[in-house]
Amino acid sequence: MIRDLRGKRVLVVGGAGFIGSHLADRLLVSGVNDLAVMDNLFLGKRENLADATRRGAKLFVRDAEDLSALDAVFAEFRPDVVFNCATKALNYSFTDPADAFLTNPKVAVNLLERLRENRYATLCHFSSSEVYGSAVYQPMDEDHPLHPTTTYAAGKAAADLALQSYVRMFDLDAFILRPFNNFGPRQNSKPPLAGIIPLTVRKILRGEAPEIHGDGTQTRDFTFVTDTAALVVEFFAKVPRGDAVHIASAQVRSVQEIIEKISGIMGVPMERVVRKPARPSDVAAHFASTKKMETFGSFAFTGFDDGLRATIEWLKADLAGEEKT
Ligand SMILES: NC(=O)c1ccc[n+]([C@@H]2O[C@H](COP(=O)([O-])OP(=O)(O)OC[C@H]3O[C@@H](n4cnc5c(N)ncnc54)[C@H](O)[C@@H]3O)[C@@H](O)[C@H]2O)c1
Repeated sequence: MIRDLRGKRVLVVGGAGFIGSHLADRLLVSGVNDLAVMDNLFLGKRENLADATRRGAKLFVRDAEDLSALDAVFAEFRPDVVFNCATKALNYSFTDPADAFLTNPKVAVNLLERLRENRYATLCHFSSSEVYGSAVYQPMDEDHPLHPTTTYAAGKAAADLALQSYVRMFDLDAFILRPFNNFGPRQNSKPPLAGIIPLTVRKILRGEAPEIHGDGTQTRDFTFVTDTAALVVEFFAKVPRGDAVHIASAQVRSVQEIIEKISGIMGVPMERVVRKPARPSDVAAHFASTKKMETFGSFAFTGFDDGLRATIEWLKADLAGEEKT
């Protein structure tokens, strides 16, 4: 399977968010002909696309769950390739479990239907390691059972299953990339939807105490976001139809280690950390098998500590800007 992004018209759905905006930046230096982003700005921001729009990317502020909005964007932009990064943050599933679930299969099926109608040629869909729930075995390969513990994760799994069934039924050119936890600049730091790294840095910068839920032994496998964007572009050419492939750097850290590391860099004593009760449905352990992705090439990942320092620097500037406005 060889696909080529060069000269193509590329649409990134959910591209004003964290990973999608880095993907947009990467695509723009990868020879694509024209790039557009479709995002309803649920969590995405125009500022994330400042570089991309300067380089000519177009932003459609539209909802991809709405078929007429999607059709209008397709009619105007006429994409060859679609990347689907649209989702509503995991933590949102605790406040609106139904909407958090439904966004994922709705957007995926809308895009799969347009693919079936030959409105574009290729769909690259973003899954999540959350579809696995807590590891039954480690490292977790792509055949690990799907045991979603949140409606967010169940929606992500439903979207993956929809894609694979459409490919089996109609031989569509669609495939799944499945990142593990990402971190880096542009990740949302505002509660209640923020993840552990940006939330902890934000709290410290605001003079608040960092928090650990549960005993802190929960582990995640972390990848710096620009590495993910680079790998998505690289894998685009090669992943077979209907297949799912991890994107992970096998840098596993516990919540306790993350808080210690951030506190150390930012000069906050660990005694200040507040212990909170464990959250129901928090995944206990994630450690990705990278065997399958290594069949597509070898990669030099950004080290966790270097990535963390870059993230902290970015958040300092971002929060300083937020306070001014
Ligand atoms: N961040 C991570 O650690 C991580 C890990 C594994 C997988 N992923 C996956 O990567 C993808 C991108 O995640 P992210 O971290 O960048 O999240 P994000 O929330 O920053 O980006 C998602 C974007 O989708 C947009 N969106 C939501 N609903 C939409 C709709 N109906 N129509 C159009 N746009 C909509 C949001 O406004 C946001 O900009 C998602 O599929 C996510 O499941 C992320």
